[in-house]
Amino acid sequence: MTQSSPSQFERTAAVILAAGQGTRMKSALPKVMHTLAGRPLIYFPVRAALDAGCSEIVVVVGHGRELVSSYLAKTFGDRVKTAVQSAQRGTGHAAKVGIDAVTGSDAALVFYGDVPLLVGSDIAPVLRGLEGHGASLAGDGPREAGTWELALATCLVADAHGYGRILRDARGDIVEIREQKDLRTDAERAVREINPGLFAAKMTFWQRTLAQLSPNNAQGELYLTDVVALARRAEKVVHTVSARNEVLLGVNDRQQLIEAEVFIHERIARDLRRAGVTVRAGARIDDGVRVGRDAVIETAVVLRGDTSIGEGATIDVGCVLTNAVVDAGAVLKPYSVLTDSHVGARAQIGPFSHLRPDSDIGEEAHVGNFVETKKTRLGRGAKANHLAYLGDGIVGASANIGAGTIFCNYDGYRKHTTVIGEGAFIGSDSQIVAPVTVGDGAYVATGTTVTRDIPANALAISRVRQENKEGYASRLRAKLKPAAPAKPKTPDIPPKGST
Ligand code: UD1
Ligand code: CA
Repeated sequence: MTQSSPSQFERTAAVILAAGQGTRMKSALPKVMHTLAGRPLIYFPVRAALDAGCSEIVVVVGHGRELVSSYLAKTFGDRVKTAVQSAQRGTGHAAKVGIDAVTGSDAALVFYGDVPLLVGSDIAPVLRGLEGHGASLAGDGPREAGTWELALATCLVADAHGYGRILRDARGDIVEIREQKDLRTDAERAVREINPGLFAAKMTFWQRTLAQLSPNNAQGELYLTDVVALARRAEKVVHTVSARNEVLLGVNDRQQLIEAEVFIHERIARDLRRAGVTVRAGARIDDGVRVGRDAVIETAVVLRGDTSIGEGATIDVGCVLTNAVVDAGAVLKPYSVLTDSHVGARAQIGPFSHLRPDSDIGEEAHVGNFVETKKTRLGRGAKANHLAYLGDGIVGASANIGAGTIFCNYDGYRKHTTVIGEGAFIGSDSQIVAPVTVGDGAYVATGTTVTRDIPANALAISRVRQENKEGYASRLRAKLKPAAPAKPKTPDIPPKGST
């Protein structure tokens, strides 16, 4: 992400409009709280403003404001403040509410909160456009005529339907922005230059101009876009800066939400590939996930939340990781699911392992197919290779947990801890009834139900002694055979053609 030189824009605010309900989302959730690539929509424009070096950020909230405000406070702390627009009277009104909340800036950007593809480097040129035309951002000195001016981004698109059109005069200067519903002629409808919604002006311009808006339009709203016509009427210079087309992908409905999400996932994958990670097509890596060099992320892998993958690790097909930390060189075989867990360096997980919250798998440890762990620590080199449930356990280094082992951690009321010592060997199909401790180097014989602590290097065995009855099987068969109905030699298949 490009960081603008902060010195010029130190006193520039960003006002982000996010009070609308987002009717077209058809949702109980406010539009800007719908997530894409693991973040609520509002995260992206706020981060763009931070990356552009804005020193003061005001998000205008309305619908679902408690939810939006608490998310912003949790995520950005005091770097972002909110202003409440209690009735949604249009983008111009929202901008005024936001501008009124700006306290320490000379200039302000105003943009929409539903544009997730906007990044810091899209903002900087618009600010430079403002500066380049003599609008000094410094000081509160007397304002000269002709200096309160406006810079805004525009995009050329193939299908302009639904967007505000940029109308220009014969000299090519912008005259006004006209909304879709207010277009009058076919010539206006044919205009393909549209308003993506990114404006910059000095505070004095905003204060003056926003106060002059009127709801004289098809929607009876105060339009932010009317500041262009007002500026021209006052003979102020308005510059346009052409922007990347992605900037305008505003999210109005769920189809556009996913279109934007696909774009962000592709951007994340591309950035990682450039940084030396093999990301196969079809992997989904959310915003904020970190992946080290030479890691391989296979197709259909989902990495989300606060997840990080170490150098050279392999995350094979279909793994789903949420808030997981995987250290260097670890291998996650296909279809393993990890949540709030840690995997040590060079450990091997899967296929089909389930690591539930607070699993901590040591270096070079193995967790195999159909093994479920929860709140369990496996020491270095410990192994649980097949079919086991390890809940609330502490397993020592190099211990071996046989197939079918169950840590019986729950008595219906409380959870209890199983401790397995270093180098202990748990035979297959054993139940370890917690709370209990198996000493270092102890053996648990196959099929044992452990209910008492086992001293170090002891053997625990709790199964019934085996008895062999010579010839019994033959006698049993002889007794049972006549009683069984005779089986037909060939199966009873109906002849062809019959029904
Ligand atoms: C707006 C622009 C249009 C532009 C398009 C780009 C206006 C009048 N129209 O139309 O020129 O091409 O975006 O996507 O500005 N909001 C408030 N308070 C309100 C109304 C809206 O905070 O009273 C917020 C919304 O939450 C949203 C943003 O402003 O984040 C834009 O509003 P929206 O209704 O989506 O405008 P568009 O119809 O898309
Ligand atoms: Ca919109």
